[in-house]
Amino acid sequence: MTQTISASIRPAKRTAGITYAVRDIVSVAHEAAKTGKEMLYLNIGDPNKFDFTTPPHLIEAVLKAMRDNHNGYSASHGVPSAVDAVEREAGRNGIKNIRSVFLTTGGSEAIELCLTALVDRGESVLIPHPGYPLYDAVLAKLEAKALPYLLDEQNGWRPDVEDIRKKLDGKVRAIVLINPNNPTGTVYDRETLREILALAAEHGVLVFADEIYDKMLFDGKEHVSIASLDPEAPVVTFNGLSKGFLAPGWRIGWGVVSGSQALLKDYIPALDKLLRARICASHPMQHAVAAALDGEKEFIKSTREKLTRRRDITFEMLNSAEGISCVKPEAAFYAFPRLDIAGADEDFVKGLIRETGVVTVHGSGFGEKPGTKHLRVVFLPTEDVLRKAYAKLLEYLKKHRK
Ligand SMILES: Cc1ncc(COP(=O)(O)O)c(C=O)c1O
Repeated sequence: MTQTISASIRPAKRTAGITYAVRDIVSVAHEAAKTGKEMLYLNIGDPNKFDFTTPPHLIEAVLKAMRDNHNGYSASHGVPSAVDAVEREAGRNGIKNIRSVFLTTGGSEAIELCLTALVDRGESVLIPHPGYPLYDAVLAKLEAKALPYLLDEQNGWRPDVEDIRKKLDGKVRAIVLINPNNPTGTVYDRETLREILALAAEHGVLVFADEIYDKMLFDGKEHVSIASLDPEAPVVTFNGLSKGFLAPGWRIGWGVVSGSQALLKDYIPALDKLLRARICASHPMQHAVAAALDGEKEFIKSTREKLTRRRDITFEMLNSAEGISCVKPEAAFYAFPRLDIAGADEDFVKGLIRETGVVTVHGSGFGEKPGTKHLRVVFLPTEDVLRKAYAKLLEYLKKHRK
């Protein structure tokens, strides 16, 4: 006779600390939407949810691949045309000593595999606060420690290099750099990047450079890949089709490992084992990579123009009232305004959704300097929607500030 066990299935303890504020806030928005309220979504970094569409030549490349029956598995590192195109692009960004290039299921999988191949339980990785919460989630899963270093709001959200120096103890295995940054939209200058590289070299740690927003720059800003500044420094650079190439749902990203062969000789085979174990990234979608990186780039110009206007509205309106101030974003499509409010920013954001239908994400979901309060807005919506949403936000702030 089969025995009936009534206790519910016990999940792994390592999942307890995993949060992802960007999606967690959605349940509050769903509840508010059920009341029939007009919802204005400024919370998700997905260009295709707004008036941005995937360039047709990328779609053609995928359709052709499907018709040509590139529908089986690919090599674990990716199809040669994509691997070669990523290597050429890295070369154009000044990256030398490229030791490995691999295609993944979004930049997210590259991040996850590279952290998994590096850290053991109890070791730590320096991550930016504020920063993209995936790093915290993956490190929690690995039972490793996400050790935050601060980005300095007073200095245009540039990394606080002294804070990095202070935190580099013997257990730190890597420094994560998100440049341009999500959620602040900052682009890092050469000097700061050089200082961080010097610290990484001094302490023998790897640098993870998340450059997924490197195409979305404003005001003629130049983006520098940290790996280009020292060909010997061990760096893994992440990028993909999700943001700059307007195809987040295709889930195509990549990693480029560069630096001294002597330093990377054990890490790369470990990473290769993980790449083989998960078979490959989506095969037909990989055929868009060469088309994206080597093909026509007019759409990047028009994307930047549209986003610059939206950034300007954001910057102007979110500095136009008491209790809110905002550093000017230089890239990507995020702003991280500071709130001078009495309560927690999470309560503010939830109240804002329930009362006005404007959906943003609380700053604490990205990590912030203790005692400070922020929220993250996504300025992908059209100018009219942004104006309307910010007007409601400012009115709510005035009403509930203290
Ligand atoms: C900084 C950063 N890195 C990585 C990702 C993940 O990108 P992908 O969609 O390619 O997995 C995101 C997505 O928002 C991001 O903001």
